[in-house]
Amino acid sequence: MNLRDDGVYCDCTVGGAGHLLAMLRRTRQARFIAIDCDPAAVAYSRHVIADYRHRCFIFENNFINLDLILNQINIPKVDGILFDLGVSYHQLTTPERGFSFERNGELLMRMSPKIPSLRARLCKTGQEELAGVLREYGDVRNYKKIARMIFERRDVIATTLDLRRVIEEAVPRRFLKKNLHKVFQSLRIWINDELGQLNWAGFAQGDADVWRELIGREIPQLYGMFMNRWPNPSLAEELVQKTVFDAVRGRASYDPSKGSPEEWLFGIARNNIRLEMRKRASRPSVNGDLSIYLATIDSEPLPDEVLEQKETAAVVRTALSRLEGKEQTVLKAKYLEGISARDIAARIGITEKAVHSLLYRARMLLRRELERIISADKQGQ
Ligand SMILES: C[S@@+](CC[C@H](N)C(=O)[O-])C[C@H]1O[C@@H](n2cnc3c(N)ncnc32)[C@H](O)[C@@H]1O
Repeated sequence: MNLRDDGVYCDCTVGGAGHLLAMLRRTRQARFIAIDCDPAAVAYSRHVIADYRHRCFIFENNFINLDLILNQINIPKVDGILFDLGVSYHQLTTPERGFSFERNGELLMRMSPKIPSLRARLCKTGQEELAGVLREYGDVRNYKKIARMIFERRDVIATTLDLRRVIEEAVPRRFLKKNLHKVFQSLRIWINDELGQLNWAGFAQGDADVWRELIGREIPQLYGMFMNRWPNPSLAEELVQKTVFDAVRGRASYDPSKGSPEEWLFGIARNNIRLEMRKRASRPSVNGDLSIYLATIDSEPLPDEVLEQKETAAVVRTALSRLEGKEQTVLKAKYLEGISARDIAARIGITEKAVHSLLYRARMLLRRELERIISADKQGQ
């Protein structure tokens, strides 16, 4: 990778941090975001790069969420992305992880604890599907025979060596090693959905482009749908983003027999509306008592209900009007006019990141101001 000192780079499969450490050593100021879905890999990598932690952030996550992670930490673009796919040395050589056909271990073979074990998957999988997995992902010659034998003994295959014994019985000795590699590899790719994840990471561009185009085309309608429900542009924007992320993440679960991709996408949007309604229903009612809301102001936008209630809106507006210049501008724009952080940034000529930190400070100030108004009010009563 062509590394520059002013760049930001992602290592999407940090593993044992071998590549990451080499990149950190080759640069003096470049920053790195690293991801792995395996908590053991993340813990180990954090230890390995401890000397560089001021310019390297490691997340336990799936790399299909890269967009989401970058968005959360406010990094709009990166200068290079590294994928080093497959199983890591540590995973392969730790028998308890269940990847190796040479050492005995429970038949797990999963890169992340969030994935069901291979043993559990085998118990739920039919012979034909299994044959397809061996053929598609491992190019296994005797795929039908091996699939049948695994299927018939699925209840008693509990460890990696149990699985190995089935393959030993199914293929001639001289082809054994090659078949062991192929069968274990195909099952690993299958249960960890390695190809599905790659699609999302942008490798299999063809298919992913079709989906991106579909989502892009529907965005105005999604936006309209949320605006119809709650005419608040920044909330609508937030929900569109959430819907797109959910769709991107859940694409593998799209089932064409249940409707068109558009219907599926709008199903996700409707679900997000339901979730948002539930969230709102669980909020405390206002009734002029702002103190309940003070607790949420630091972390959340002001609930719309606050601004809709005449009495409380007046208090909020008074508090807002007492804030200093820029804080007042961003808070008004965000909460009274409903403008997104991006548009506020363009309007007042600062970066989006600066808007977020201004908003944070402004909320703190507003909180203090509201507390002051409420306590003065109580004393006056
Ligand atoms: C070949 S290893 C990487 C080795 C690493 N480059 C090094 O230098 O040590 C692949 C790593 O990718 C991780 N991985 C595989 N699929 C992933 C996914 N979808 N999201 C995040 N990490 C993933 C695995 O857990 C494994 O640790």
